[in-house]
Amino acid sequence: MGDPNGSDYERLAGHTEPLISTGLPGPRGSAIIEADAKVTSPSLPRAYSFVPDRGAGAVIKDVDDNVFLDFNAGIAVCSTGHAHPAVVAAIKEQADKLLHYSASDFYLPIYAEMCARLAAIAPMDGPARAFLTNSGTEAVEAAIKLARHHTGRQYILSFFGSFHGRSYGSISLTASKANYRADFGPLLPGVLHAPYAGRFDSFLGLGRLGGEVAEPDLDYINDVIFKRLAKPHEVAAVVVEPVLGEGGYVVPPRSWLLQLRNLCDAHGILFVADEVQSGIGRTGSMWAMEHFDLEPDIILAGKGIASGMPLGAMVARADLMTWPLGTHGSTYGGNPVSCAAGLATLDLVAGGLITNAGVVGEFLMDGLKDLAQHEPAIQEVRGLGLMIGIELPSPQVADAIEIAAFKRGLLVLRAGDSTIRMAPPLIINRGQAASGLRLFEDACAEGVAVSAGLLSEQSMIRA
Ligand SMILES: Cc1ncc(COP(=O)(O)O)c(C=O)c1O
Repeated sequence: MGDPNGSDYERLAGHTEPLISTGLPGPRGSAIIEADAKVTSPSLPRAYSFVPDRGAGAVIKDVDDNVFLDFNAGIAVCSTGHAHPAVVAAIKEQADKLLHYSASDFYLPIYAEMCARLAAIAPMDGPARAFLTNSGTEAVEAAIKLARHHTGRQYILSFFGSFHGRSYGSISLTASKANYRADFGPLLPGVLHAPYAGRFDSFLGLGRLGGEVAEPDLDYINDVIFKRLAKPHEVAAVVVEPVLGEGGYVVPPRSWLLQLRNLCDAHGILFVADEVQSGIGRTGSMWAMEHFDLEPDIILAGKGIASGMPLGAMVARADLMTWPLGTHGSTYGGNPVSCAAGLATLDLVAGGLITNAGVVGEFLMDGLKDLAQHEPAIQEVRGLGLMIGIELPSPQVADAIEIAAFKRGLLVLRAGDSTIRMAPPLIINRGQAASGLRLFEDACAEGVAVSAGLLSEQSMIRA
């Protein structure tokens, strides 16, 4: 007979309400933060003073036993929720068998199994092949290298507002915040940026900043880049997030992505969809590209692909993988334990979590749109599935709401200039979503008041 009170996992995962019993951070959290400040790199962009200890499903406890609803999922990573028993079991089983053998130099069965699964689900007609990495940024690097190698062309186009990672190639594509790039130059040569779906256009004289343009076009690419900077036959790839992630959770109109696809076809340019954040079920489809019914030539995955174990992937049309023996590899990329977690994750995502992401995502989105009717600070609610952005009037208001939510036990995170993103685990249930909505409503009221100076920081509610 099983434990009548359920497992530790079930007990924690079953919370629909947070439970905050100390000030935040609590005493243990404060001590850890103090010790951390002495030894960790000051470059780490800590959002607020959350010190996690144990997670289950969409719920996470901090080191002071405060219980939070996690609408961050470890920044869109813990797709199947924290410590899903099937993922943990797969990790343990693989760890008992084999921790590492480099798949670059030898034949690792589970590596090929993961590649076969990815090739089977890649949103492309015809055969595909995969290259596995430890992270999203390495998948981006692999795509840059493959695109240049295959086409023999040097230029890569990416977009203002986009985020592709922090290694030299990917940071050169990234244009969401100058801070990521500042003082690191020179960056990778041959990278050119264009407006993303009509957003971030005002400084180019093309439209208004941050707002939606009804019919965004590719005039900037055609009239500025191709006429003044680089001929299309010199462009190897366009790297695009089909839903903008760190840059503010922006969903472009299909017509814009279609124009981009057509532009690539017209000039022999490879269409690279960076789905490190939007992929693996987050948007209510396995890939965001499926919402637009468009095929990329190369697709990139990371984050949610292995529920928190380090894994990334570049999946390309098989005919593009013309780079010969020895031209690219990785010691750890596609580590067997990460692959085991990845395979278990794909089973769970395809076996129901995609559907849940769509259903609960719609419930959350509807609730937030209702809230926007009577909370004037909310300027726009947008997204797909469980990738939801809430646009606020300023970074200060967004910050104040983020902190007010944290103090109530709801973890959310800033994105873009003044957006709050909600990216809970795909396993989140309706009760937890409803509770998150209530908490967010309260947090908005407090955040708006705080940023307007009506309440002092000290008088903010402390549990
Ligand atoms: C769209 C996108 N691409 C690439 C990356 C980089 O991934 P990683 O941090 O695993 O290197 C991220 C990370 O946020 C991302 O959102």
